[in-house]
Amino acid sequence: MASSGLVCETDAWKDLKAHVEDIKKTHLRELMSDAKRCQSMMVEFDGLLLDYSRQCATVDTFNKLNKLAEAAHLKEKINLMFSGERINSTENRSVLHVALRAPRGSVINSDGKNVVPDVWQVLDKIKDFSDRVRSDAWVGATGKPLTNVIAIGIGGSFLGPLFVHTALQTDPEAAQLASGRKLHFLANVDPIDVARNITGLNPETTLAVVVSKTFTTAETMLNARTIREWISAALGPEAVAKHMVAVSTNLTLVEKFGIDPNNAFAFWDWVGGRYSVCSAVGVLPLSLQYGFAVVEKFLQGASSIDQHFHSAPFEKNLPVLLGLLSVWNVSFLGYPARAILPYSQALEKLAPHIQQVSMESNGKGVSIDGVPLPYEAGEIDFGEPGTNGQHSFYQLIHQGRVIPCDFIGVVKSQQPVYLKGELVSNHDELMSNFFAQPDALAYGKTPEQLLKENVPSNLITHKTFSGNRPSLSLLLPSLNAYNIGQLLAIYEHRVAVEGFVWGINSFDQWGVELGKSLATQVRKQLHASRKNSEPIEGFNFSTATLLTRYLEASKDILKEDSTVLPKL
Ligand code: F6P
Repeated sequence: MASSGLVCETDAWKDLKAHVEDIKKTHLRELMSDAKRCQSMMVEFDGLLLDYSRQCATVDTFNKLNKLAEAAHLKEKINLMFSGERINSTENRSVLHVALRAPRGSVINSDGKNVVPDVWQVLDKIKDFSDRVRSDAWVGATGKPLTNVIAIGIGGSFLGPLFVHTALQTDPEAAQLASGRKLHFLANVDPIDVARNITGLNPETTLAVVVSKTFTTAETMLNARTIREWISAALGPEAVAKHMVAVSTNLTLVEKFGIDPNNAFAFWDWVGGRYSVCSAVGVLPLSLQYGFAVVEKFLQGASSIDQHFHSAPFEKNLPVLLGLLSVWNVSFLGYPARAILPYSQALEKLAPHIQQVSMESNGKGVSIDGVPLPYEAGEIDFGEPGTNGQHSFYQLIHQGRVIPCDFIGVVKSQQPVYLKGELVSNHDELMSNFFAQPDALAYGKTPEQLLKENVPSNLITHKTFSGNRPSLSLLLPSLNAYNIGQLLAIYEHRVAVEGFVWGINSFDQWGVELGKSLATQVRKQLHASRKNSEPIEGFNFSTATLLTRYLEASKDILKEDSTVLPKL
């Protein structure tokens, strides 16, 4: 295939490549001493403050990155996304998760049809259903209120809703509205996850929401059948209608599974799994837990960023700036990873969610036209809330590998604590670290400084911090439903910007298919060997040996002729 059209062939890319040498000569200590530069690298929008002055970049770098954005037709690609073009070309789909949070009455077309009324039809149905469950107008088969919800789903049908739920849990308004209710997530096909979910739960007071875009995902469907069995074993098969509902794009399979299509909440193939938290995938379980009004604020926060992303000039556009910086760090400075470090325990599930949003989207080796990429794309995301991360992997990011860091801080804690007599409040203590760590990474500590402190000479190199390690700081005014929506959309669009510049398709995920099909082959073999003692065939030596050991050593553990549920 001809290798034309790759962004690395543009002058803008080559210019940035040449620029790397200049930047490598400059230490962040010097860059940070230029207050004018730093001021130009702070952007505010809708209560958020982004400070990217600790990036190994000058104003000139940004001019060059803007030229790269132009060369990659970034503006045009953003517009194509918002106008419902089928930019996910390998699946022939448009990419319209922005429509999921568009205000009622706005117009976003897919194939010439405004999809916003359909979105709001489902949102209204969710509001109605969640109101009925929360007010006990919809009760279980034995007449008891449904106070526990198990959301059964995996990947994008799990991680986004889990992130938002975890973030809302300690928000005072949301917590009050969730009083007496519990939301659980069943994702892993590991039966231990089933055991953890149902232990201590009464089927009479439990509502299961099966969440699957395709309604074919092996893990989710087995877990759904398991919970269906758990409900019908306790309450009879007729109870399933009262205790199970579904979220899917595949309403035919929902009905086949035995869930009344009236109790199914639709979404559309223009919503990618990892971009689906604002569809019924997230909105239904979260509304059941917190009420629709709270979730609506979350959607409004995301929508505010959508409009900003679509219309703000690039030099003030948060997702664009973040996306361009990621491209700079990965493809030019050669830093393949990124640490996501929220100084908020409520954001503990942000990194796991962004791992999927980013790595499933941009973990690609070919361009959107199928041309192998001669440059690195995609980035390795990981993270933990500060300060926990500081006592775990920060050693490596201070003195080992260079890993650009996202520091995320919150001005007002969801749960303020102050002890009389303490120097600072507990949140100030947390935030002291948020403010200190980026400078420690940027400035480091020189041997000269250590000598002045009379550090023994044998420890000088051990105690030296090279510094010059890039980070950015994002300060949120608070962490309510609205802010959580803003944060989500910033990361979603940042990933899209990266993909648009790299010239890849950020909206397909062919890389997950091979493992799934090999598992199908193993599943068949396990069944045939257990049921009919058939020999292991068609596997390499290694897999055959492991399978033999597994089958032999587990012969007596499970008989396949009767149902077994966890006994914790
Ligand atoms: O892991 C692959 C994947 O297709 C993800 O993209 C998706 O989020 C997840 O599986 C779950 O898919 P579904 O919602 O169809 O069950």
